[in-house]
Amino acid sequence: NKTANQMLIIFGASGDLTARKLIPAIYNLYKGNHLPENFVVLGASRSAMTDGEFRRKVVQESAYLKDVISTEDADFVSKFSDKIFYEDLGSDYDTDYDLLGKRIGDLNSKYHTSNQYIFYLSTPPSLYEAIAKNLHNQGLTNETEGWKRIIVEKPFGYSLKTAKDLNTGLQKYFKEKQIYRIDHYLGKETVQNLLVTRFANSIFEPLWNRNYIHHIEITNAETVGVEKRGGYYDKSGALRDMFQSHLLQIVSLIVMEPPINSSAEEIRNEKVKALKSLRIMTDEKTLFDHTIKGQYVASEIDGEKVKGYREEEGVDPNSKTETFAAIKFFVDNWRWKDIPFYVRTAKRMPTKVTEVVIHFKTPHHQVFKEQDINNKDNKLIIRIQPDEGILLKFGVKVPGQGFQVERANLDFYYSSLSDSNIMQAYERLLLDAMQGDATLYARADEVEAAWAFVDPILNYWENGKDVNTYGYSAGVWGPTNSDDLIEGDYTWRNPGPH
Ligand code: BG6
Repeated sequence: NKTANQMLIIFGASGDLTARKLIPAIYNLYKGNHLPENFVVLGASRSAMTDGEFRRKVVQESAYLKDVISTEDADFVSKFSDKIFYEDLGSDYDTDYDLLGKRIGDLNSKYHTSNQYIFYLSTPPSLYEAIAKNLHNQGLTNETEGWKRIIVEKPFGYSLKTAKDLNTGLQKYFKEKQIYRIDHYLGKETVQNLLVTRFANSIFEPLWNRNYIHHIEITNAETVGVEKRGGYYDKSGALRDMFQSHLLQIVSLIVMEPPINSSAEEIRNEKVKALKSLRIMTDEKTLFDHTIKGQYVASEIDGEKVKGYREEEGVDPNSKTETFAAIKFFVDNWRWKDIPFYVRTAKRMPTKVTEVVIHFKTPHHQVFKEQDINNKDNKLIIRIQPDEGILLKFGVKVPGQGFQVERANLDFYYSSLSDSNIMQAYERLLLDAMQGDATLYARADEVEAAWAFVDPILNYWENGKDVNTYGYSAGVWGPTNSDDLIEGDYTWRNPGPH
């Protein structure tokens, strides 16, 4: 695919995301020959900087680009730098937008970017509508000459109501097809591969339902705490930060029905249907029994002392915000009725890992009496990160007398395909938006369906009776009572290496 001439305008460009993710992604795209010759980046934000200062900050002196650039690249880096510009902006002053509008016009004429613009909003969501309005007033949203697109970052809302307000606010000035809501998990190869594993094979899909699957488990664990983001995180928590977005995206890809083709609209139609079929928990008893929130307390990881959440900078010392969330839920549709899903996400876990475990039912008649309880079920483990891959666990006969059954593994590792250069999430997503492909971006109704499921849990956690925020030591797999969430003989698979 060829990428058309265009300009990428980043709002909030002095923030961390630009230097950490966006510029390295654009650099790699440029280096990989994915960008057109007529391409420029214009950073805009409140800090006063010249073009040169901005270039130094995000290219020459960037700690993040150091990993990407090799020493032989000096000429190439300076050619890349020349494509980057900067404009100061106070997001609510009309006059600044006049200047911005003029700057965009000038750069467009000089560098022949064909009036094709992507506006990337890396700002607090409270500014989205005002920015969209100002762009509209400058005539920068209309597509009579060249297309216009807007990319918005997470968090997309704080609740169902605020997400709806954001959608309405943006849709006053941009058509839905111009709006790209980013969720960087959709940029991960392994997340996209959920679709391919399910719908490009005939061996999994016949079993992918309530008749053969016992339950589904998803773990998303990070070893880090809240780092420097205490202020943001304390108002957000694990449910908003990870579950509503990234994890429900993964859930929707596991739950959805086969789309009729791979177009953005067909895939997203099925994902919305999947999210709408999640059984919303409304009574307190279910919410009490099926949700667990936790918070890390001071402890040691690998002999190193780490702070408790409440001691972190920017966090209220009496905070009840969760850094661990585990949720059990059901999906009310033909395929999944009464099959439990267990999803947990947390900071300060023993290891960084995201994986999906499909637990198949045990054979309905046990022929081999020696079959050990641990070898009764088949598991398909989809490792999203790290050690990306797929692992199938099944029973085999132990050589010798009798019919002793032992577990064997069938492994696939993405690293075995590593001669193909795997794009990072932000590279892939930016390139898709540049080419007008919204498949890996969340649509308005998708985001709202996810919030509709999460809202009652948040309300209960914030206002309900008998809600506990359980402490857990940094470096363990969460509060001990989260082990009881999974019923029967089963427990969480606390993943070590594959
Ligand atoms: C972000 C969250 O969206 O995802 C962070 O805001 C989290 O809190 C991060 O650390 C995890 O992303 P990844 O790609 O490292 O799993």
